[in-house]
Amino acid sequence: MAKGERANFGSKIGVILASAGSAVGLGNVWRFPYETGNHGGAAFILVYLGCVLLLGLPILIAEFLIGRHSRANTAGAYQKLAPGTQWRWVGRMSVLAGFLILSYYAVVSGWTLEYILQAATNSFAGKTSADFIASFQAFSSNPWRPVLWLIVFLLATHVIIVKGVEKGIEKASKIMMPALFIILLVLAACSVSLPGAMEGVEFLMKPDFSKVDGSVFLSAMGQSFYSLSLGMGCLCTYASYFSKDTNLPKTALSVGVITTCVSILAGFIIFPAAFSVGIQPDSGPSLIFITLPNVFQQAFSGIPVIACALSVLFYILLAMAALTSTISLHEVVTAYLHEEFHLSRRKAAWLVTGGCTFLGIFCSLSLGVLKGYTVFGLGIFDLFDFVTAKIMLPLAGMCISIFTGWYLDRRVVWGEITNDGTLKVPVYRAVIFILKYIAPVIVSLIFINELG
Ligand code: TRP
Repeated sequence: MAKGERANFGSKIGVILASAGSAVGLGNVWRFPYETGNHGGAAFILVYLGCVLLLGLPILIAEFLIGRHSRANTAGAYQKLAPGTQWRWVGRMSVLAGFLILSYYAVVSGWTLEYILQAATNSFAGKTSADFIASFQAFSSNPWRPVLWLIVFLLATHVIIVKGVEKGIEKASKIMMPALFIILLVLAACSVSLPGAMEGVEFLMKPDFSKVDGSVFLSAMGQSFYSLSLGMGCLCTYASYFSKDTNLPKTALSVGVITTCVSILAGFIIFPAAFSVGIQPDSGPSLIFITLPNVFQQAFSGIPVIACALSVLFYILLAMAALTSTISLHEVVTAYLHEEFHLSRRKAAWLVTGGCTFLGIFCSLSLGVLKGYTVFGLGIFDLFDFVTAKIMLPLAGMCISIFTGWYLDRRVVWGEITNDGTLKVPVYRAVIFILKYIAPVIVSLIFINELG
């Protein structure tokens, strides 16, 4: 690559897979089910779907167009498109959000490595759900093991980031995404056929609107931004590597459909199984780690080899899905430091890896030895999750929609969305309308409702 020229994704499918690889991750398989469980099931899912359609997709298109038009990292993008204005703070907030998310996300990613090991050494065999709960608690509150896995995971992310965009990110996503989808389908089928699973299916499909309150809206909105990787410049940074003829609305739709399908599929794996073995749907962040081992044990109790092989494969794929997401988070912060502070990519990447390891250790310990230390009643891990997913991402999303709807030159917006008029985009007017009026109003209302 010539000096000063930016990297590009090599193929169309690579563009979609890398973006979807960022979107699909622990947010779908780990966070979506426990948020759904905490907020009563089907009704939460409906609100979530509404948020994806009405807020997520238009803002995703906006983020894409900001990235591709500016061809810069998130913070740089605002400086290019709105030089000398305060808009640069939106970019900076996004970078900070990415840094904080990566710190605790890597902790959970590390857990998946532990579970690969446990699955491979067949330590799920013969355990009851009470055993799985106890062993998860013992593991996550252990001061050493989770921290060790956290470091391993961040180093793996680091290596791929240093290798560069096309070789690392794109190649990795191309293989892992389809494989993950297939194994999720198999698991959903197994889970639904467990005894007593129908109660879980009902939980997912029969909305109980009496459970809908302000916190459901805030959480569903947060989850929709989270699972689309919105509001922290991930997709904006990726879009800066897109080519001129990438169809932005179509790519956004593909990413939205893929990530939503994976989330719903994860729901169909977790809840039928949880109800079947008597695990509370509102068990919080530990939900998938105590439910899934049960699925493998129960669905294949007669054929332990398959139970073992399938569970190893599943946790490997989950770790990989997490990896494509940590790569995207890391890339945002690395690109920012590299381009804004003129550090070498290598140095920038080390700073990010080091910083996230440091914060990640506190997040991890907050589930064990540092459990007593809370801020606003939340431990460090939960605090990072709350502040990023429920405050910073929606706030940044709102700013992005105002920036695109009101500030940016309409010709630029039109040019990017329609590729200078070569694409027919029937939803163009609707997207602009949402960005200008609907998104800012809804996000503000949800915030005000929660604060009041
Ligand atoms: N979307 C990813 C997931 O669902 C997590 C993620 C990656 C993310 N990049 C992000 C979340 C940017 C918010 C913002 O697992």
